[in-house]
Amino acid sequence: MPRVSFVDEGKSGEFPAGRTLLSIATDLGVRVSHVCGGDGACGTCRIEVVEGWPNLTAPTPDETYKELEPPYRLSCQSKLLGDVAVKVAKIE
Ligand code: FES
Repeated sequence: MPRVSFVDEGKSGEFPAGRTLLSIATDLGVRVSHVCGGDGACGTCRIEVVEGWPNLTAPTPDETYKELEPPYRLSCQSKLLGDVAVKVAKIE
């Protein structure tokens, strides 16, 4: 199973492909803001992909509309395909 590491939090685990990074963060006890509940609308669930960008599903229209660019993704829209290392993005 793919391994997900939240490098700033020192938390990691193995999860089935297809899970969203937001749901994985919740399972690991990593706090990621998610005002819209994972609908791709609010943009508050941003994460920074440190390693493994190709190991996530392609950005969704909700992300391209918000002009998110690498290394940032919406964790509620990013589904696991392989190993990744991420950080919770600071929203300014
Ligand atoms: S939780 Fe709102 S965009 Fe991801």
